[in-house]
Amino acid sequence: MNNNLINKYDLSVPRYTSYPTAPHFHDGVNGDVYKQWLAELDPKTPLSLYFHIPFCDEMCWFCGCYTKIVKRYDPVKEYLDALLAEVDLVADALPTRFTAKHLHWGGGSPTMLKGEDWMAIMNKLRERFDVADDAEIAVELDPRTATEDYVAELEAAGVNRASIGVQSYEPKVQEAIHRIQPYDMTKEVIGWLRKHSINHINMDLMYGLPHQDTTEIETMIDLTVDLQPNRIALFGYAHVPWMQSHQKMIKDEDLPGAEERWEQFTLAVERLKERGYVQVGFDHFAHPDDNMANAVETGDLHRNFQGYTTDTAPAMLGFGASAIGYLPQGYVQNERPLKSYSQAIYSGVLPAAKGIGLSAEDKLRRDIIEDIMCNLTVDLHARCHEHGANAKDFDEDLAKLEPLIRDGICIVEDGNITVSDDGRPFIRLVASVFDTYFASGVGRHSKAV
Ligand SMILES: C[S@@+](CC[C@H](N)C(=O)[O-])C[C@H]1O[C@@H](n2cnc3c(N)ncnc32)[C@H](O)[C@@H]1O
Ligand code: SF4
Repeated sequence: MNNNLINKYDLSVPRYTSYPTAPHFHDGVNGDVYKQWLAELDPKTPLSLYFHIPFCDEMCWFCGCYTKIVKRYDPVKEYLDALLAEVDLVADALPTRFTAKHLHWGGGSPTMLKGEDWMAIMNKLRERFDVADDAEIAVELDPRTATEDYVAELEAAGVNRASIGVQSYEPKVQEAIHRIQPYDMTKEVIGWLRKHSINHINMDLMYGLPHQDTTEIETMIDLTVDLQPNRIALFGYAHVPWMQSHQKMIKDEDLPGAEERWEQFTLAVERLKERGYVQVGFDHFAHPDDNMANAVETGDLHRNFQGYTTDTAPAMLGFGASAIGYLPQGYVQNERPLKSYSQAIYSGVLPAAKGIGLSAEDKLRRDIIEDIMCNLTVDLHARCHEHGANAKDFDEDLAKLEPLIRDGICIVEDGNITVSDDGRPFIRLVASVFDTYFASGVGRHSKAV
């Protein structure tokens, strides 16, 4: 694979953490629809729960997440009260008591919550759900604010996985992104996590940041592997200053161009593989002992709003402002503005603002796209058979794959579409061929690589 393809396919495509993707959600899915969907949920369905905490101490200039900077704890506390009330509203709408197998805290920085508040929310969850004994309880953690006592409080709350935001260890890069986090700080926090039995460690690394170059990327990978995280995510910096105005603080001239980004990405991938990590999809890596590496082997990998996951639950309930969830009937996203979110809850209404119901065709295309994104291959005939559809209906989509086949990105044989190893970085392009909404041009996305 060469730089020509990167220039040729420097396209903006969705990340396919859902299908249809979020820009196609509409306000026809409101609190009443969500309530109805919850009431219809099969009581045997194991649930995943996602909680969004949209607060941070300080803004990192690269940040693309939905968060607000707060200097006092009062707004966090008020938000938490609304979140606890939302748990009651949702649990009341369910037909019975459900088992939760995965709990994920994202943000923002969930570690803005005080230790005693972790206890309050966990107690509320155990009151309203059966939290499975072996449930995964994962928290996105900002190492800059962690102390050993705080880590012990997370352990007491039952947390057993932490995702650590790292980005880069290079001081010049850290300065340019307004996030000073020395390597030794990250190393110390990981030591505390392991000491307190939070043994599942994910690390989030980035390429394409201002001043990053291949030498730094190589060092970053080596230093990271020395810490032996169970999983590593390698995100390309998504520069979307039209959506995140603080990103304007990052100067365009300090950013690597498309070819440099490509070199950084391919170097990182090669180095991670050389050091023994298993590539998952296109931007995740798992230690060979991790169950995600196993899921790659067995074809049990899935994709949701947190990226690649081993979570197989058919329903994820999203709590908190802007949180997205999914049910067998479709996707639901909560109100984004904190005020509208809490107002809905205190009026006794589920704070769903938008979403999308899934048609039979959406469900089939979602499975095809997930197969491509997770397994790098899809058996079109088998998927169509499963959904009672005819593979002939995909002739137009297959024709759109022609240029990608010519460029060695994918192979099509007897209805099996397989992304080549070299084609992995372009996996989103292959998936987008099956996205009927993408053709409509709604939404503006980050670069494919
Ligand atoms: C919610 S943060 C992680 C938790 C915590 N707030 C922290 O920063 O340590 C989620 C992760 O998303 C990734 N991320 C944020 N903004 C991004 C952007 N513009 N492009 C690509 N990845 C981004 C970063 O890797 C970041 O660590
Ligand atoms: S990267 Fe993390 S800590 Fe920084 S602003 Fe975004 S959510 Fe907050």
